[in-house]
Amino acid sequence: MTTYLDADLPVLLPRAADTSEATRAILNSAREASPVAKGPFGAIVLRHEDVVALLRDRRLRGPGMDFARLAGIPEGGRAWKRQEQILLFMEGDDHHRLRRLVSAAFTPKAVEALRPFTRSVISRLIDDVEADGECDAVAALCDPYPIPVISELVGVEMDRWEDMSRWASSILLSLRFDAGQFIDEIEQAQAELDEFIDGLIAARRAEPRDDLLSRLIAVEEAGDRLSPSELLSVVSMMLVAGTDTTRNQLSNIIHTFSEHPEQWALLRERPELVSAAVEEAIRWEPATEALPRFALDDVEIGGHLVPAGTIVVLMSMAANHDEGSLPGADRFDITREAPAGWHLLTFGGGVHYCLGASLARLELVEAVAELSARFPVLRPAGDAVRHPTGSPIAGYASLPITWRP
Ligand code: HEM
Repeated sequence: MTTYLDADLPVLLPRAADTSEATRAILNSAREASPVAKGPFGAIVLRHEDVVALLRDRRLRGPGMDFARLAGIPEGGRAWKRQEQILLFMEGDDHHRLRRLVSAAFTPKAVEALRPFTRSVISRLIDDVEADGECDAVAALCDPYPIPVISELVGVEMDRWEDMSRWASSILLSLRFDAGQFIDEIEQAQAELDEFIDGLIAARRAEPRDDLLSRLIAVEEAGDRLSPSELLSVVSMMLVAGTDTTRNQLSNIIHTFSEHPEQWALLRERPELVSAAVEEAIRWEPATEALPRFALDDVEIGGHLVPAGTIVVLMSMAANHDEGSLPGADRFDITREAPAGWHLLTFGGGVHYCLGASLARLELVEAVAELSARFPVLRPAGDAVRHPTGSPIAGYASLPITWRP
């Protein structure tokens, strides 16, 4: 069989379009033409059923440290060492062990306990702008939202939120395809965060509290515990995995509703739809558009041979919109009931399925519930600006909105 490289397939460039609508149109027409496309890094998989199956296929593994190497992160440095202990970059028994230990501390009960705090954060952010009738949703609502929540989860005091935010922004650069360019900033932030968390670990060892850090220190399974270096990496991971994703996802949700006023009106009429509305909005405009994988063996995808050693990009954005698996997928409908067995791919799937999905959903539901209760309408108040190509998370750099009737 000839490889996918020899076939006449659509060619896709990262974020070729300026708007999410145009991105959707490009992906839809590529998927209708072929289940696989060629991209600058390797093969791109577009159909829902293929993405779901490949997320569970052991011939593919997660991004691993190859991506850190490709991105130019120096091997053996502090940023490299932290990344080696981040679940998304681990595989096999090491991944399984760390995920089990972290899950034992990051329980559904611990997530649910954050609900009142989360509600108070979004409510205060809305208080600050409500009388103005308009704002840049990114600066006023989305950017400042997740850091206090993650800080509260971990057990960081209120007066360090701004430091946490600064460290998160710098460490997040390590997930870019061109991370090497920012290495000094990344290493500096990682060193400062490590020092701060080291101090916090000592304090919680001496006097445990009801927070994630205390639970991570205490967690023990069959005599196994997290090492001091793993504790630093897990806190760093929570900060990195739970910040940019959530703030960008909220910007995408606000953008989607600002483009669908009739669905906003429906949500205001029927507030009980809020969870379904969030589910549909994160399907429609996901913050994580693509899941990178690495083929350990030859794999046949949609009739094309993808050879061992290929980077395989599972395009969750295209799969979420695949009419072949979800009838009417190209309609934004908050009353949608997905068919039994259909998988939303915004949080991935398989062994790397998002560990924070329930916290993310809680944050997004609280935000949308509060926004829809207080903003009678939600309309664009200027041009939305998306993040430029190169950022690993899709969302907005600026999103002017108004709620004046
Ligand atoms: C709307 C917000 C979020 C989105 C869209 C999102 C999306 C994702 C996706 C797609 C993956 C899998 C990536 C892959 O397989 O290549 C993932 C993994 C992960 N997420 Fe999230 N995430 C969000 C929020 C969070 C939060 C709030 C946390 C924690 C506080 C978190 C923690 C993690 C962790 C630890 C992993 C790695 C799991 C593993 O490899 O075993 N995420 N996330």
